[in-house]
Amino acid sequence: MKNNPQIMVTGGLGINGIWVTRKLVEQGIRPVLFDVRDDFSLAGDWLRDKVDFVFGDVTSMDSLTEAIATYKPSCIIHMAAAISGFHQDLRKTFAVNAMGTVNLLEAAAQGGVKRVVFTSSRAAYGSITGPSAHPTYVPIREEHPAWPANAYDVGKLASEVMGNNYAADTDLEFVALRFAAIYGPGKLKTHGEFGILSKMVEKSLAGEEIDIPRGGEQQDDVIYVEDVAEAVVLAALHVKPSHTLYNISRNQGTTLHDFADAVRASIPEARITIGPGLDYLGVGSSYFGVMDNTRAREDLGFTPKYDLKAGVAAYISRLKETRP
Ligand SMILES: NC(=O)c1ccc[n+]([C@@H]2O[C@H](COP(=O)([O-])OP(=O)(O)OC[C@H]3O[C@@H](n4cnc5c(N)ncnc54)[C@H](O)[C@@H]3O)[C@@H](O)[C@H]2O)c1
Repeated sequence: MKNNPQIMVTGGLGINGIWVTRKLVEQGIRPVLFDVRDDFSLAGDWLRDKVDFVFGDVTSMDSLTEAIATYKPSCIIHMAAAISGFHQDLRKTFAVNAMGTVNLLEAAAQGGVKRVVFTSSRAAYGSITGPSAHPTYVPIREEHPAWPANAYDVGKLASEVMGNNYAADTDLEFVALRFAAIYGPGKLKTHGEFGILSKMVEKSLAGEEIDIPRGGEQQDDVIYVEDVAEAVVLAALHVKPSHTLYNISRNQGTTLHDFADAVRASIPEARITIGPGLDYLGVGSSYFGVMDNTRAREDLGFTPKYDLKAGVAAYISRLKETRP
């Protein structure tokens, strides 16, 4: 990627998007944020002056084409997605998460964009079975078979496959990042049951008791949002990534008990109880595992900086910044 690249971030005001945006701004870049919400509350209004904002919807080719023609980005970081409540509106989930990506790829290819970085998810692997599942948790590499089942997961895999098609048939470069479970400010409010780690942090901070009925033996790979943002920016600014798919994770199994200990390190009075068993999200399948991040380390130079205690401490101090 050339020096001073023009970067557009779809979903740039979301939980992850806001950190990607902040990191770009820290590097002297003025990103263009493309989002259906004009809500800077996750960062604060100070960020408004440091970005350009386009009120747009990825389900509309016209709004994408116009934004690309106006700002001429060399790279688009595509983070916009419909996440919580996807069972309630399957058509919308697919329209935003799969067709929205295809619209973006088409508009990017037509508009001369050099690279699209797509924020995918470990959800693309679908249900984890065999040695990578409980109790052995052999780290999952990018070649692991993907059998996504639900609408969100399928939207992620479909987007990746279509991105690879555009990369093969046009001049567009495509890179997909599959994130582990992310925790960070804002997730409790918008991600429903998937915000369980945020619930442990934010309710403890508010002096509330947390009782999680089951799942204490379940391990999962969890990563702090600022580490994720770092990986996204590395993929966007890399001269030429060697691969089109990377796991972005800590490469470690974490239980809710481990996470509760990290919360107690910052909030000693936290009252958290966790029941035994697996599947604390109640998703009914083995959606949990450890993701091997060797490829991202070696090729993108990605090193997660936050262990659990540091991640929870940073989460709390960032929350206090935006909610004094
Ligand atoms: N949070 C996680 O644990 C996690 C894990 C894996 C992957 N991801 C992926 O990371 C990306 C960002 O997730 P997040 O947690 O920040 O979500 P978020 O809901 O906080 O942010 C998504 C953003 O996209 C915007 N958006 C939604 N629909 C849109 C549309 N039609 N057009 C334009 N903008 C639209 C929203 O307004 C929001 O600002 C998503 O692609 C998500 O699937 C997140």
